[in-house]
Amino acid sequence: MKEGLLKLARRACIMAFAATVASSQLYATTQSEELATEAKKFQVPAGQSAADKYQVKLNDAGFVQEDSSVPRTLEDYVYGANDFFDLLIKVHPMFKYEKEGRLIGKYTMSDRMEEFVEMNHGPEYAKKMGQDHVAVTYRLGMESILDYPNKFVGPKKCGECHPAQYAQWSRSRHSLSVRFPDELAEVDGDPKRKMYGTEATILPWGIYPDDVYAVIGTPRTKYGFLDRWLVRGTYHIEDGNLSDMSGYMVAGGNQFSRNWAEHITPEVAKKIAEFSPGFPTTMEGMAHSGSKVWGVNSYGSKNRETMVFQPASSYCEVCHSFKFDFKTKDEFFAAIGNKDELRKHTIAKGIHCEECHGAGAHLYGARGAGMPSNCERCHQRFSYHEDDAKIDPRKPFNAYFKSSCPSCGTEGAQLYNSVHYDKGMRCNTCHDPHEVTANDWRTEYTLTGIKKTCQDCHETQTEFAKQTGGIHAKDNCTGCHMPNMMSCENFAAIQNPDKAGFDNVRASHIWKIKVDKTAKTINPPEGKDRDPLTVKGWRFARDTNGKFFVDLMWSCGRTSFSDVNLVGPGASGCHSPIQSTLPDDLKYTNQEEIYDAVMKWQTPVKTGYESIKKGLRDIDKTIANNPGLSAAKKSEAMLLAKQANDIKDRLEKDGSWGVHGPQYSSKIVNEALVYIEQAHNILGIKK
Ligand code: HEC
Ligand code: HEC
Ligand code: HEC
Ligand code: HEC
Ligand code: HEC
Ligand code: HEC
Ligand code: HEC
Repeated sequence: MKEGLLKLARRACIMAFAATVASSQLYATTQSEELATEAKKFQVPAGQSAADKYQVKLNDAGFVQEDSSVPRTLEDYVYGANDFFDLLIKVHPMFKYEKEGRLIGKYTMSDRMEEFVEMNHGPEYAKKMGQDHVAVTYRLGMESILDYPNKFVGPKKCGECHPAQYAQWSRSRHSLSVRFPDELAEVDGDPKRKMYGTEATILPWGIYPDDVYAVIGTPRTKYGFLDRWLVRGTYHIEDGNLSDMSGYMVAGGNQFSRNWAEHITPEVAKKIAEFSPGFPTTMEGMAHSGSKVWGVNSYGSKNRETMVFQPASSYCEVCHSFKFDFKTKDEFFAAIGNKDELRKHTIAKGIHCEECHGAGAHLYGARGAGMPSNCERCHQRFSYHEDDAKIDPRKPFNAYFKSSCPSCGTEGAQLYNSVHYDKGMRCNTCHDPHEVTANDWRTEYTLTGIKKTCQDCHETQTEFAKQTGGIHAKDNCTGCHMPNMMSCENFAAIQNPDKAGFDNVRASHIWKIKVDKTAKTINPPEGKDRDPLTVKGWRFARDTNGKFFVDLMWSCGRTSFSDVNLVGPGASGCHSPIQSTLPDDLKYTNQEEIYDAVMKWQTPVKTGYESIKKGLRDIDKTIANNPGLSAAKKSEAMLLAKQANDIKDRLEKDGSWGVHGPQYSSKIVNEALVYIEQAHNILGIKK
C-alpha cells in the first residue's frame, strides 16, 4: 500500500499556483472567460485545503480501491495517472523553461479529473443525480498507455487471419490518425515543409521531427502533435528549438489548420466580411486564435497568453489511441523523453482493431473478447445544461460546443437527440465500421463507407426527388439534411453560426430541417448576445418535441470548404455566397430570403393539400348522407376519391411539401384535384 496523498497535494499546489497567477494577471485583458473558468477548477474551494481536494490513497496498481482484483472504476482511472504526472513535472521542458524565465504565457494543468469529471457541468449533473462523479462528456478507454503489461497484439496480428477487414481499415483515416513524422506521406515525411503556398507547416516553429513522438491528424482538417514526453503540444519555440531546449517556449501557435491555410486566405476573408460583419481580415483580428503564421492557429491555448499542460493520458490517447509493448510501468517511464524507444515499442496506433474489439479480442489468453467499445466512446461528447434538461428531462444532454460551434466528434450527441435514435438506429446502422474512409485520405472532405443509405429506408422521398427533374434532382439527401456544421477547432474569431460558417468541417447528424423564418439551430444561452467571441455556452436549440433541428441558413446557405456537397466533384457550392457558382440571386446571405424561396414551393403544395382534404371530406359526407345514390355513381366516385387519397398520403409521407420535388409535387396535387372535381361532378357537389 502506498500513500498517494502527499504527491497529490504537491500537484494540487502547483495547479493552484498556476491558477492564481493566471487569474490575477491575465484575464483582465482577454475577451473570454473560458480559460478563467478552466483555471478556477484548480483553485481549491473555500474551506478546503489543497490536500483535501486530492486526498486519495492509491495502491501499487494505481487503484483507489484496496483490492485491485475488483474492476477499475472511474475514480481509479482518474487518479491512476498521478504517478505519470509526477514524473512529467520532473522531466518536462515546460517547467525548465519556466524556471529559467523563458516561458511566454501561462499554463494550467489538465488532468483526467478535468477532462473526464469536471468538463461540461459534470459535477452539477452528478449532484443532481446523487452520484459521486459523472463523466458527462467523454468516455474512457477500457485500457490506457499507463497499463502494463497489457494484452494488445496490434492490428497486423489481427490482419493475419482477417485480411479483408485489415485492408479496409488500413486505408481509412482511423488507421492514419497517429503517425510518426517519417510516415507523413503527404509531405514526403517532412513535417517542416510549407503547405498550400503559405508559411504554415505541420510542426510549428521551433519544433522538429526529433522533438515529437507522433503527429495526430491528416490533411483532412488539421494536425496536432505529441512531444517526446507524450504531452500535447500547445506551444511553439522561438529563437531556438525544443531539441536542445534553447530559446523561448511560447503559448499557442501550435496547430496547422487546412481550412485557414488553404481557403480562408486574406482575399476570401474580405469577401466574407462583406456579409458577415466583423469577420477578421488580418492576423490581429484572429484574436487569441491567431499566431504569427497565417494558417497556424492557437488551439488548447491562446496566442502568447495561455496553454495547457496536458499529458496524452489525460485526453488525446483515449481517442487518437496508441499502445506500447513495455512489460512494466518502470520500463515505460524510463522511455519518456526518448522518441526512439517510444516509437520502437509502439505496438498499435490509430483507432485500431483492439480499440473496438478489445485487447487481444477473442484470441486465447486475451483480456476479453466481444465489443467493449463502440463508436460513441470517441464520437459522442455530451454537455449538460440545467435549463436544457428542463425542456426534455428524458434527454438532458446537449452536445459539447467549443466557442459557438458544436465540437467535431459530437455525432453521437446529435444522433441521441434525433428521431433516428429513438427508432433504434446507431452509428453502425448506417456506417461500415472498417471502411470509414471511402475516398483518398489526402482529400479535404470525407466520403465514408455507408451500409444503409437514406434512399434504402426513405422510399417516398427518394421517388419524389427522382421524379422531379428540377434543380435538386441530382442532389444527395445529405446535401440539405447533413450540412457540415461541426468545428474541429476553437476558432471563435471566424465562427458565425447565424451566417452558417466559417469554421465548420464535419457533417452534422441531426437530419430534421426546420422550415422557419428565424429559428436558429445554434444559440447562445437565453438572454445573451449572439457574439461568438464574447459569449460562451452556445448549444443546439430544441424543437417543441425536444429534438435538435437544422435551420434553413445551414441547410441551404452554408459556407464550408470541406463539405463534399459543396466542394465534391460536380458540386455547385449550393447557395453559399462565397462558393456558389449559381446566379447571384441564388447566393443567400440571410435566412429570410431562403424562407421566402421555400415558401414559393411549399405554399401551393400546402394549399392544394388542404383542398384535397376538404374535397375528400365532402365526398365522404355526400355518400354517407345520400343512401339513394346509384351503386355505379358511388363506386365511380369512390374510386376517384381513393386515387386522390393515395396522393394525399404520399404528400404526407414525403413530408417536404414540395421541397423534394416542386414540379412533381404540384403535378400530383393538381392530379388529385382533378380526381376530386370529377367525383364532385358525379355526386353533384357544388363548388
Ligand atoms: C489465428 C487466426 C485469428 C487471429 C490472429 C484473429 N482472429 Fe478473429 N477470428 C478468427 C476466427 C477463426 C474467427 C471465427 C470466424 C468464424 O467462425 O467464422 C474469428 C472471428 C472474429 C470476429 C467475429 C466475427 C464474426 O463473424 O462473428 C471478430 C470481431 C474478430 N475475429 C476480430 C479479431 C481481432 C480484433 C483480432 C486481433 C486481436 C483477431 N480477430 C485475430 C481468427 C483469428
Ligand atoms: C473524445 C475523443 C477525442 C479526444 C479525447 C481527442 N480527439 Fe481529436 N478527434 C476526435 C474525433 C472523433 C475526430 C474526428 C472528428 C469527427 O469526425 O467528428 C478528431 C479529429 C482530430 C484531428 C483532425 C484529424 C484530421 O485527420 O483532420 C486532430 C488533429 C485531432 N483530433 C487532434 C487531437 C488531439 C491533439 C487531441 C488531444 C489533445 C485530441 N484530438 C483528443 C476525437 C477525439
Ligand atoms: C471503429 C471500430 C472498429 C475497428 C477499428 C475495427 N472493427 Fe471490426 N467490427 C467493428 C464492428 C462495430 C463490427 C460489427 C459489424 C456490423 O455489425 O456491421 C465489426 C466486425 C468485425 C468482424 C466481423 C466481420 C465483419 O466484417 O462484420 C471482423 C472479423 C472484424 N470486425 C475484424 C476487425 C479487424 C481485424 C480490425 C482491424 C484491422 C477491425 N475489425 C477494426 C468495429 C471495429
Ligand atoms: C478510439 C476512438 C474511436 C472510435 C471507437 C471510433 N472512432 Fe471514428 N474516428 C476517431 C477519430 C480520432 C477520427 C479522426 C481520424 C482522423 O481523421 O485523423 C475518426 C474518424 C471517423 C470517420 C471519418 C473518417 C474520415 O475519413 O474522415 C468516420 C466516418 C468514423 N470515424 C466513424 C466511426 C464509426 C462508425 C465508429 C464505430 C464503429 C467509430 N468511428 C469509432 C475515433 C474513433
Ligand atoms: C442515418 C444514417 C447515419 C447514422 C445513424 C450515422 N451516420 Fe455518420 N454519416 C452518415 C452519412 C450519410 C455521412 C456522409 C455525409 C455526407 O457525405 O455529407 C456520415 C458522415 C459521418 C462522418 C464524417 C463526417 C465528415 O464530414 O467528415 C463521421 C465521422 C460520422 N458520420 C460518424 C458517425 C457516428 C459516430 C455515428 C453514430 C453516433 C453516425 N455517424 C451515425 C450517415 C449516418
Ligand atoms: C435504417 C433506415 C433509415 C435510414 C438509413 C435513414 N433513415 Fe431517416 N428515418 C428513418 C425512420 C424509421 C424515421 C422515423 C420517421 C419515419 O418513420 O419515417 C426517419 C426519420 C427521418 C427524418 C425526420 C426526422 C424528424 O425529426 O421528424 C428525416 C429528415 C430523415 N429521416 C432523413 C434521413 C436522411 C437524410 C438519411 C440519410 C443520411 C436517413 N434519414 C437515413 C429511417 C431511416
Ligand atoms: C433541396 C434540399 C433537400 C433535399 C435534396 C432533400 N431534402 Fe428532405 N427535406 C427538405 C426540407 C426543407 C424538408 C422539410 C420540410 C418541412 O418540414 O416543411 C425536408 C423533409 C424531409 C423529410 C420529412 C421530415 C419531417 O419533418 O417529417 C424526410 C424524411 C426527408 N426530407 C428525407 C429526405 C431524403 C431521404 C432525401 C433524399 C432522397 C431528401 N430528404 C432530400 C430538404 C431537402
